[in-house]
Amino acid sequence: MTPTDTMSARELYQRLLTYVKPYWPVFIIAIVAMLIFAATETGLAAIMKPLMDGSFVERDSDTIKWIPLGLIALFLVRGVANFITSYGLGWIARNVIKNLRSEMFDRLISLPASFYDQSTPGQLMSKLLYDVEQVANATTDAILTLIRDTLTILGLLAWMIYLNGTLSLIILMTVPIIALLVYKISTRFRRISKTIQESMGSVSHISSEIIEGHREVKTFGSQQYEIKRFDKVNQQNRRQRMKMVATDAISQPIIQLITVLGLSVVIYLATLPEMLEQISAGSFISFVTAMFMILTPLKRLTKINGKLQRGIAAAQSIFALLDEKAEQDDGTQTLDRARGEISYQHVNFSYDSKKGAVLKDISFHANPGQTIAFVGHSGSGKTTLVSLLARFYPCSSGQIQIDGIDINALSLTNLREQISLVNQQVVLFNDTIANNIAYGQKAHVSNDEIIAAAKAAHAWDFIERLPDGLATQVGQNGVLLSGGQRQRLAIARALLRDAPILILDEATSSLDTEAERHIQAALEALMKQRTTLVIAHRLSTIEKADQIIVMHNGEIIEAGTHTELLNKGEHYAELYRLQFQDK
Ligand SMILES: Nc1ncnc2c1ncn2[C@@H]1O[C@H](COP(=O)(O)OP(=O)(O)O)[C@@H](O)[C@H]1O
Ligand SMILES: [Mg+2]
Repeated sequence: MTPTDTMSARELYQRLLTYVKPYWPVFIIAIVAMLIFAATETGLAAIMKPLMDGSFVERDSDTIKWIPLGLIALFLVRGVANFITSYGLGWIARNVIKNLRSEMFDRLISLPASFYDQSTPGQLMSKLLYDVEQVANATTDAILTLIRDTLTILGLLAWMIYLNGTLSLIILMTVPIIALLVYKISTRFRRISKTIQESMGSVSHISSEIIEGHREVKTFGSQQYEIKRFDKVNQQNRRQRMKMVATDAISQPIIQLITVLGLSVVIYLATLPEMLEQISAGSFISFVTAMFMILTPLKRLTKINGKLQRGIAAAQSIFALLDEKAEQDDGTQTLDRARGEISYQHVNFSYDSKKGAVLKDISFHANPGQTIAFVGHSGSGKTTLVSLLARFYPCSSGQIQIDGIDINALSLTNLREQISLVNQQVVLFNDTIANNIAYGQKAHVSNDEIIAAAKAAHAWDFIERLPDGLATQVGQNGVLLSGGQRQRLAIARALLRDAPILILDEATSSLDTEAERHIQAALEALMKQRTTLVIAHRLSTIEKADQIIVMHNGEIIEAGTHTELLNKGEHYAELYRLQFQDK
């Protein structure tokens, strides 16, 4: 359980309130407008008394004249007050939504890799899109009802008491019963809301998966499987929603019934002969009008609890994200440009301490400009090993140094500035080719530099042939380009970044031999004068490496040059025979 789960409703409100605080002047204006609105409601009930007594009973011509004008004035004031309230609260809500979203976005960007390993894009998107709106709507509605409707009810009640105390007392007696009901309903709402949110997350999670993986769905013929999977969460979402609808639907008639019971008693009592003497026709009509007018805000008051509970559930989900710990970054040292000496010293690592070590006692050393190649079966820990250098995950024990400095002592930004990373999985952004090559450094890079990088990466040939050249849009995640083209863009990006340390993680494994030959030259350009950690399939890269490290089950089982290891005739020689011989 995260601390946010145990947060009480009161703490949540207080925390939400801090987002509203900056807008307090507008909030005060809105409250004043709500007060005026409530007063006009009471005025409407009150005007019934002179209307009945003056015009119909006593036929007083003065009263008859001002009542229509009074009504118009009342509704004019009421309308203006209503506008100011809605506009003011809406303005505050949109600002709060905007601020919450940017805070969530800032948090998302600063969260560690391990957080993303554990959450799905669907869940996170649903927080950012759905939960934030939910919080703002619920809070606005709640404030509107709690303040305006409560004031209206109080105003009308005061008027009723002024007209006749005894009758009002009878009405008031139904209030505790209603309050108890509201309490019961609201706890139920809060419980259901949470499950609704989770099922919304599943709905968006599954849909986004089939949208992103539509090719896999088609080729594997898994349409029926996905439809079934979606049906399940869709159904679950409906079921939860229906619980909400049922609670909502049943609560209102019950509350109304109780109110009408009170009302009937009032009418019965008011029409008793001794009462009729005390109360004028106008007073009675005015009293009953007020009573009916109380019903609407009272109904909203009971309903608002559902909304409020939905808001609380959404706020919990938002604050849970905001309370996630950002990537640890307490290094203070900086390197201008590293020479590129890398040393791993007895590094141990596990993703999850319960699941055991993924890297065991890893030690090696790379001098500036050297190339170290990693080979080993898939799952032996190669990717994990190189990702520790960029501090995507912290070492469990041991130390990694760049130029003799512990990487934890470097600031995260500075450390990562020293590293270029080219993965098997190239990520392109839905933007132009130029912006993709210059990703992250658009501000200080000229067009000529971009072209030079593209040329060195052997990407210029194909870019030149595109109708819009560098300005071509690559589509979401570069779907409009071939694997080899994407790979060359990634290399151009790394070249332009010009970092002293280069990590190539199976950068060419998704390519065919022809495309790979193209890229090989590009890669060699990239590796020049840089310390390179390369996880490669291609023999030529490995052969030329200054050192080859053979990994098995998270351990280094052999290290040396190509010739040394071949002569030794053990693990590498075996791997070489199996994997590389016939390529
Ligand atoms: N993000 C992750 N969370 C948990 N376990 C992981 C993660 N990434 C990899 N692993 C596990 O760590 C081990 C090493 O994986 P990896 O470093 O990707 O190996 P390689 O790159 O050599 O194929 C594997 O057992 C894999 O299942
Ligand atoms: Mg790997």
